[in-house]
Amino acid sequence: MVLDALQKIKAEDDSSLSYRRSCREGICGSCSMNIDGTNTVACLRPIDADTSRPTTITPLPHMFVIKDLVVDLTNFYQQYKLIEPWLKTTKPPKDGREYRQSPSDRKKLDGLYECILCASCTTSCPSYWWNPEEFLGPAALLHAYRWIADSRDEFTEPRLQALTDDHTRLYRCRTIKNCTATCPKSLNPADAINKMKTRHLLSTSRKG
Ligand code: SF4
Ligand code: FES
Repeated sequence: MVLDALQKIKAEDDSSLSYRRSCREGICGSCSMNIDGTNTVACLRPIDADTSRPTTITPLPHMFVIKDLVVDLTNFYQQYKLIEPWLKTTKPPKDGREYRQSPSDRKKLDGLYECILCASCTTSCPSYWWNPEEFLGPAALLHAYRWIADSRDEFTEPRLQALTDDHTRLYRCRTIKNCTATCPKSLNPADAINKMKTRHLLSTSRKG
């Protein structure tokens, strides 16, 4: 994998080379970078077998670079925090122990909970490039939908309201779909964003 090549370069050629990595198996999301024009995680990207051409590796695009392949993810994590990524309820669980969920409701979270917060999607999005403060970006929005779609969560409407109050957090998405094309975990943030737009429009038309 490309990450192995970076490890070799760091070990044998240039110990100052800086990049993030931890799990080396596509779980931690640390090793995201742009490889030959595509945002992905280096530990899941095979080295190009055609050695006649170079592989170009750059930091995630449109991000402030701290050093080499390490970018500043402060804003990215603040936006993740903003969507309150935890189960919110008003009542204790019926059995006093667990909030239960039917298998079919649990299935609705497939394709959402697997996100590893690598930021490949968010940093591939032109809407995010130009509005990184206001627009939450596909990763935070995928996580927002993960809780909106959770049958156990009792704050669905307030969550949706918080995303749609100012017409930028969610609606800056122009359905370009770079996010879905680049996700190394084959997730579909564009679909999650569309579902939230639809839910918001339906709830607005019901109120109107
Ligand atoms: S949706 Fe995919 S690309 Fe975006 S942060 Fe999650 S795993 Fe990474
Ligand atoms: S090192 Fe964890 S995703 Fe690559």
